Amino acid sequence: MLSRRSAQLAYRLLTSTYRPALQPRLPVQQSGRLISHSTVDPAEVRKFQALASKWWDERGEFGALHAMNDLRVPFIRDNLLSVHSARQMGSPLSGLRVLDVGCGGGLLTEPLARLGADVLGIDPVQDSVRIAELHLSHDPALCGRVRYRACSLEELADEDEQEEEGFHAVVASEVLEHLADLETFIQCCHHVLKPGGSLFVTTINRTQMSYILGIIAAEQVLRIVPRGTHDWEKFISPVELETLLESTGFSVECIRGMLYNPVSGAWSWQQSTAINYALHALKRREEPQSDRVESESEDEAASRSTA
Ligand SMILES: C[S@@+](CC[C@H](N)C(=O)[O-])C[C@H]1O[C@@H](n2cnc3c(N)ncnc32)[C@H](O)[C@@H]1O
Repeated sequence: MLSRRSAQLAYRLLTSTYRPALQPRLPVQQSGRLISHSTVDPAEVRKFQALASKWWDERGEFGALHAMNDLRVPFIRDNLLSVHSARQMGSPLSGLRVLDVGCGGGLLTEPLARLGADVLGIDPVQDSVRIAELHLSHDPALCGRVRYRACSLEELADEDEQEEEGFHAVVASEVLEHLADLETFIQCCHHVLKPGGSLFVTTINRTQMSYILGIIAAEQVLRIVPRGTHDWEKFISPVELETLLESTGFSVECIRGMLYNPVSGAWSWQQSTAINYALHALKRREEPQSDRVESESEDEAASRSTA
């Protein structure tokens, strides 16, 4: 049986071209400080809090995320290696600092560290971070390369003002669709990255197909993920995401479609980005146009006032 909310959404999907617009926001950076809007949605925190003990159960609620490592780990590794040449045999990402935002139990954090990167995993759900730390403690060889913190990205970005170095890469895998404020999140990703640094995202498109397969089939029929895990209205299309990234000072390098097969439990790359997709963007070395215009007009105003 479809819930009343699902039925209403399905009706809207079939009868209209409903599209929540991206809300333009004030720039977050002003004289180098971040004006923070929280990216954390308390309802999402409660949802993941309730599931925190399940992270490392490969047959459980997060089984599809375990399987996604087969695509996303090589995707991140190969795109990073196209920007930074490998420094050490067997440890291709050594010397690179990676931030895994919304790391959950560390399912992606650990394999990235195994490739040699120094990884900081952050998540607003304290219990998930505890589970990630507990799992990490079983692999002493990794301990020196992974750190976890229970905090939000905006908290880290605010502290980051003290630090001179940024991250070589920020990874936000299956996180964008759980945020209270996507624009602030992307601006914080930009803030904590080094110029030329990489942003990796995997997320879900907002299409009729993603509603039918991602919510009705995955949550309500096949129960691949718990009911209520996703809110279709928070899904974002590749075009919207690319537009937001470009206006924030990124250039999008590649977008690839992904598909999960619930029978084999495996993911594969697809031409179509209609449901899931992965994206790699680089932080542009120059300031985005809008900032330049703002700082030019501030300069002009300053010279006018001193004239
Ligand atoms: C679907 S899980 C993905 C976990 C992990 N990235 C992975 O793929 O294995 C989404 C994660 O995002 C976290 N999250 C929710 N809101 C967040 C926010 N505002 N900032 C960072 N992480 C958030 C959740 O606590 C949860 O751990």
